[in-house]
Amino acid sequence: MTDRRTFLGGLAATAPAALGMVPLAAPARAQDGMAGPALFGSPSRTFPFAPDVYRERRAKLMAKMGGGVGVVYSATSQPEGVLDPLSSQDDDFEYLTGIQDEVGAALLLAPSESGVREYLFLRPRDDESERWEGVRLSTGAELERRTGFDKVYRSGSLPGMTSSLAGRSGKMHFLGPVVSPNAPVPAALELYGKIAQRNPGVVTVNSATMIRDMRVQKEPREIAHIRKAIAATEAGLMAAMQQVRVGMTERELKAIIENAFRANGGDGLGFQSITATGRASAVLHYDGNDGVIRDGDMVLCDVGAHVGGYSADITRSFPANGRFTDEQRRIYDTVLAAQNAGQRALKAGVPYTAAQDAAEKVIDASGNGDAFWHSLGHFVGLDVHDVGDVRAPLPENAVVTIEPGIYLPERGFGVRIEDDYLITRGGAEHMSTGVPRDAAAIEALMAR
Ligand code: GLY
Ligand code: MN
Ligand code: MN
Repeated sequence: MTDRRTFLGGLAATAPAALGMVPLAAPARAQDGMAGPALFGSPSRTFPFAPDVYRERRAKLMAKMGGGVGVVYSATSQPEGVLDPLSSQDDDFEYLTGIQDEVGAALLLAPSESGVREYLFLRPRDDESERWEGVRLSTGAELERRTGFDKVYRSGSLPGMTSSLAGRSGKMHFLGPVVSPNAPVPAALELYGKIAQRNPGVVTVNSATMIRDMRVQKEPREIAHIRKAIAATEAGLMAAMQQVRVGMTERELKAIIENAFRANGGDGLGFQSITATGRASAVLHYDGNDGVIRDGDMVLCDVGAHVGGYSADITRSFPANGRFTDEQRRIYDTVLAAQNAGQRALKAGVPYTAAQDAAEKVIDASGNGDAFWHSLGHFVGLDVHDVGDVRAPLPENAVVTIEPGIYLPERGFGVRIEDDYLITRGGAEHMSTGVPRDAAAIEALMAR
């Protein structure tokens, strides 16, 4: 789920579409290879790649499944009060279909069938909700062309269709994700349970790593989108360092960053921006926003623009007045050394935990081991905290963050440095080089 996504501009940016005020022949969106012009009607497009890309991903997944059936739901409901259709979309569904403006939809794959092997189910049309959300397309050739599916049905037929195909193949793949025992039962498992009760002999198998293992290895086109998200994010952080002033509020700084995202190709936020000053910079997921930036403060900005579905995730910590104190500089240099040690530990074939160990060693040696208590990083992609196993050997073309920190609330500051890295055969390529990271380079930028 991507419920941390918020469009830049919030309501103002999303309300017209959500309220159905899109002109009848809206201009085509500048995306690479959508299924057709973004005419009025939902689902309006595949996004951000051409339908063949998604068809190939589904074919690859079906080859892994071998037989049986598998259901992947989009989100089942729109969170209350949220007009942004992206906010409730399931990333696996989006990865396999490209469709990101549908709730209540599902994908059914049946690789052992000799005829049609993939079906898309969309929630029924409803005149009254269409007055608010815009017209939904009728089933038929136009909908099939736009979605790239040979067969599109309404969601009411999903249980019956899954049941009859599962009865023939005897197997249902749970395609994940695995959730904690306290979370609601995933919709696919709920459906499989009902089918199994009515079809003795049909079994559920755990195939939860199949989509995850595909998603973790980014395609070149996905890496290109992440690079664009990184470039927009770097522009935001450059603006922050150049425009921060003592006396400004955290909220003002956040607006500077997010405006720069938008001016540099960002189409949304990967997550809620964190702009924290002084003692708040030692709070990991601070969202207070109303602090006033004071002379001598360290300012921590953990932000990520979103482009075409993909997120960046970069943190910079810098002195509000442009000059590190000796203590701030010492802590800063330790965190940077830890990040570099983490980078040196990574390459394809090595688990991410090797970087965690290397970075911890540096921070422990500085005597600040107790002041670094979170994990070193995560995978990045369609979700800012993307799928992947930190204990498994990293594949080539995974994208990860390395984000050590030292948090000293009793000293009134914290430092985190976070960058994005592409895993290659030879190492971890530092992707977010467009915004200074060395303390001296930060001071030089801020002095201009
Ligand atoms: N921005 C949240 C994180 O760095 O994981
Ligand atoms: Mn971050
Ligand atoms: Mn992160």
